[in-house]
Amino acid sequence: MAAYDIIEHSYDVVVVGSGGSGLRAALGMAEQGLRTACVTKVFPTRSHTVAAQGGIAASLGNMGSDNWQWHMYDTVKGSDWLGDVNAMEYLAREAPKAVYELEHYGVPFSRTENGKIYQRPFGGHTSEFGEGPPVQRTCAAADRTGHAILHTLYGQSLKQKAEFFIEYFAIDLLMSDDGVCEGLLAWRLEDGTLHRFGAKMVVLATGGYGRCYFSATSAHSCTGDGNGMVARAGLPLQDMEFVQFHPTGIYGAGVLITEGARGEGGYLTNSEGERFMERYAPTYKDLASRDVVSRCMTMEIREGRGVGPESDHIHLHLNHLPPEVLAERLPGISESAKVFAGVDVTRNPIPVLPTVHYNMGGIPTNYWGEVINPSDGNPNRVQPGLMAVGEAGCASVHGANRLGSNSLIDLVVFGRAAAIRAGEILTPDSPVPVPGAASLNAALDRFDRLRHADGDIPTAELRDRMQRTMQEDAAVFRSSETLANGVERMKEVASAESELKVTDRSLIWNSDLMETLELTNLLDNAMATIVSAEARKESRGAHAHEDHPQRDDENWRMHSLAWVDGNNVKLGYRPVQTKPLLSEEEGGINVARIAPKARVY
Ligand code: FUM
Repeated sequence: MAAYDIIEHSYDVVVVGSGGSGLRAALGMAEQGLRTACVTKVFPTRSHTVAAQGGIAASLGNMGSDNWQWHMYDTVKGSDWLGDVNAMEYLAREAPKAVYELEHYGVPFSRTENGKIYQRPFGGHTSEFGEGPPVQRTCAAADRTGHAILHTLYGQSLKQKAEFFIEYFAIDLLMSDDGVCEGLLAWRLEDGTLHRFGAKMVVLATGGYGRCYFSATSAHSCTGDGNGMVARAGLPLQDMEFVQFHPTGIYGAGVLITEGARGEGGYLTNSEGERFMERYAPTYKDLASRDVVSRCMTMEIREGRGVGPESDHIHLHLNHLPPEVLAERLPGISESAKVFAGVDVTRNPIPVLPTVHYNMGGIPTNYWGEVINPSDGNPNRVQPGLMAVGEAGCASVHGANRLGSNSLIDLVVFGRAAAIRAGEILTPDSPVPVPGAASLNAALDRFDRLRHADGDIPTAELRDRMQRTMQEDAAVFRSSETLANGVERMKEVASAESELKVTDRSLIWNSDLMETLELTNLLDNAMATIVSAEARKESRGAHAHEDHPQRDDENWRMHSLAWVDGNNVKLGYRPVQTKPLLSEEEGGINVARIAPKARVY
């Protein structure tokens, strides 16, 4: 057994991760008097939420008519009928409240002439249950909305005395013998010490796992650490095959150009100068849902109408927009285009390509953020002591495809919901569990094994193999052949974990070891993704299967579950929740409106 000195901590709640959902959860917990710790591997204002650009969806109706039922309908349709209806209703209904709370906390939203929060159009957000024109629903702080939200929530969390453990890397969950989550083990990067946190509730807010892929808009820190911890605790991951490609990553660099650019009037063209989206999505054109736009761009390139010397990308035009609009509404992406593509957006189009951006799948939860562990056959069994929110969680509010600007609202609505629920089920004065020796020793042994890993394969090399495999075999379009090939390749990659070589054995800011721990998390995510994708014999949302091009509601309108153990993945399924929270008489949506139908834009 590995011998390490352990520093002990005890809290009502430990939130892991300090992006939008983690901070909103920590803030809400602390506001209610729960002793709250936030353990985070990066400084809070460097969490990936800081990169969110275009905005946060809520039916405020500041720029024209809107209501939560339209927002809910768009989210159901956007999800390609895989989202859980209760969670989607909760999101749409609570969104305005959550945004006004942000405003009151101090988020510096852009303003209309009469001082209201400015809202812009985004893909898939419509009026009149998809029959009317695009709606302006996305509340924005120029094109730096995530930055504004993150800084505000961090300040508010400090004010409420949430305690921050910054640059602490969470290694593993600590589970009791009877399966209750009692805390976690973390490694402090600054001084190499190890920390056991006991908690009545652990909230995983660890974000997505975009870095399984070679080209992603996600930060290098997006390594699915919470998902990895959950998989190692023997719990399943849900709907992992649904990986969103954002239509407009900068060609070559992968840096995000916000959908807000098209919301403000930008459009895409092919090598013939054609605005090709008019052909594919005659009504909403460039503002169709992003899975649709990404597929259309890919088809244009495949059919030889890509731009550039290799005909391998697409142009995004903003050069027809007034320079003052670009300066006021899109200053950040104007700068990104200059830095990463050498393009002056007032004169030339930006070269763009669909780029991995978001994971719809993650840790299954109900709409209160409580983790679901259906291992005993009950599809809705709540896992004691554990919550998951934000991109790490799968409520499932985005189903098979997320609408742009529904991510920031997901972070704050469900971060807030987790805090409300914790306030109901936790008693501040009750004793905090002390995680037992067995789970602590298992976590320490794993840490020590990786620290002394002495094989032949450097971490960066294995990570590169994984990223290329995922990029090639689990792409915008998939086929039986690429997926089967991908499963075999990923199994080999995951097996090679035992051959890893870590060169630095120290404990203080050992980035070699940290990247290795992150890689082990990424491998679990990648295995779940490719195996779940290979099994799903239909096309739905972001999962475009060339040999099964139709959606198949009869056989596949269900969530997939993946239990990962090294290069072995066991699959299971659980039903989609199809019942709204409110009846029509109570003001809820008419269920006939959200019945599955063809998804056209
Ligand atoms: O395009 C964007 O600004 C991204 C927004 C989102 O993913 O929600």
